[in-house]
Amino acid sequence: MDSEAQSSSPSSPRSSSPDSPTLVPRKTVLRAALAVGAAIPAAFIGGPALARTFTSADTPVPLTPPCDDGDDPTPEQIEGPYFKPNSPERATLLEPGMQGTRLTVSGYVFGRACMPVSRALLDFWQADDNGDYDNTGFRLRGHQYTDSGGAFALTTIVPGLYPGRTRHIHVKVQAPGRPLLTTQLYFPGEPRNNTDAIFDARLLMNVRDGNGGREASFDFVLDVPQNPTPPPTTPPPTGGTWAAGTAYRAGDRVTYGGSAYVCLQAHTAQPGWEPPSVPALWRAA
Ligand SMILES: [Fe+2]
Repeated sequence: MDSEAQSSSPSSPRSSSPDSPTLVPRKTVLRAALAVGAAIPAAFIGGPALARTFTSADTPVPLTPPCDDGDDPTPEQIEGPYFKPNSPERATLLEPGMQGTRLTVSGYVFGRACMPVSRALLDFWQADDNGDYDNTGFRLRGHQYTDSGGAFALTTIVPGLYPGRTRHIHVKVQAPGRPLLTTQLYFPGEPRNNTDAIFDARLLMNVRDGNGGREASFDFVLDVPQNPTPPPTTPPPTGGTWAAGTAYRAGDRVTYGGSAYVCLQAHTAQPGWEPPSVPALWRAA
């Protein structure tokens, strides 16, 4: 049994089971609406369309859509023993000759107000078709950022099984300037889901056959506040060597706010990704 299997606590699966039909989550409708630029049905924005949603004059009250539909925020999971910093930035982890069933994982990153988070970092790592992690190189490891609509898409293979665990994909997700979420994604219908102590049904992806392999979707909800009116503010520059727009490589050193930092992952710096705010990209030197 590996250390992932030993260092967890049992989770509490929600009422929805992978094998039973469930109500369409509000975010699912949001996803569809965001994808096509369509109007979002009001009944899915403010929760159930109860009488209190409207005034006696049938004037809609301001919509305040907290993510309270029962499946958020996305729960944390242990990192496990196989994470490596400095993964390459790439949306596809496929390489020539790679064995396994092709898999796409797509979805959105939302905040607590169910609004998409743009430029959120997603760092994926997983086992290969044989259940092995690449601990010397970066095979099946990569990070990417959500687009302006909060969307991400990963192309990879279905991870293989290894002793002590059910099938899973590891991921770290971080909104700009916010704490890092470390979690894992799971596949429905896996026999080991019933025996893996780390498994959490809230982290099940929707998976179907398609496009010559499997197509999965999952939406993350980060525990970050969102204000519909003002955008996040960016701290003013403090005179260090760090500068937005600079392409940094792993190992590069900068100063910011009077402290020194070492770059962990190659990236192009942008407002909101100042060193103290993004531990996935910078560590104190
Ligand atoms: Fe793992």
